[in-house]
Amino acid sequence: MSGRLVVIGLGPGNPDQVTPEASQAVAEASFFYGYKPYLDRLDLRPDQTRVASDNREEISRSNAALEMAASGHKVAVVSGGDPGVFAMAAAVCEAIEAGPREWRDIELSVVPGVTAMLAVAARVGAPLGHDFCAINLSDNLKPWDLIERRLIAVAEAGFVISLYNPISKARPWQLGSALETLRNHLPAATPVIFGRAAGRPDERIEVFSLAKADAAKADMATCVVIGSPETRLIERDGKRPLVYTPRFSAGATK
Ligand SMILES: C[S@@+](CC[C@H](N)C(=O)[O-])C[C@H]1O[C@@H](n2cnc3c(N)ncnc32)[C@H](O)[C@@H]1O
Repeated sequence: MSGRLVVIGLGPGNPDQVTPEASQAVAEASFFYGYKPYLDRLDLRPDQTRVASDNREEISRSNAALEMAASGHKVAVVSGGDPGVFAMAAAVCEAIEAGPREWRDIELSVVPGVTAMLAVAARVGAPLGHDFCAINLSDNLKPWDLIERRLIAVAEAGFVISLYNPISKARPWQLGSALETLRNHLPAATPVIFGRAAGRPDERIEVFSLAKADAAKADMATCVVIGSPETRLIERDGKRPLVYTPRFSAGATK
């Protein structure tokens, strides 16, 4: 008997940014698997069960959730932001691919959420108005030299870059090194947005030039958005500057 597994994106942390589809999926599930701070965001009923795990246990969490779904239950795995962006949807797919054949019969669905870079971008204007990319700065699952090569390639290609997982206690130097690398490939005045805890009560949004961007301003709850050479800053009296990347690029003919 196979049940259902839904991977739900809970958005950046603001209850108003949880989609109606995500709320409906939460209401319909019986067992909830996730990192404790994400489970803490849910207002579950007494008949709903939560199974919390540490944030580095994505595969064992996925396996446990899939086993529960395979035995016929309605199971939810929750993620912050969007579950497909550096989060649980890929971990669940990895577990299905490596796991027993019957897990492929489980009815799987993924409910999207507002990802961090969109929540941060919305606070300052439109830095993602032209081509952009997202890079996970954690070198837990990929080597640092690959991250550096990607940073240089996308900076030189003119992409705005959103950095997820910029820094942690175990990874204290990587963001500083990334900014140093980017200073060699982007103009010193390139706007850099440090968007911390976007949408939550402890939100902090700051904009610096690349020359002045200091890695110490970021923590684990920060998404760092680095402009392209075309990203612009509009100063405003008494207000945070607007940061935007025009929809057209130099050389556009239409
Ligand atoms: C493991 S990734 C998960 C990303 C998530 N799935 C998403 O779509 O936003 C965690 C990283 O997301 C970013 N992040 C998550 N929530 C955030 C928020 N409310 N404000 C700023 N950055 C956030 C931070 O860079 C953090 O280190």
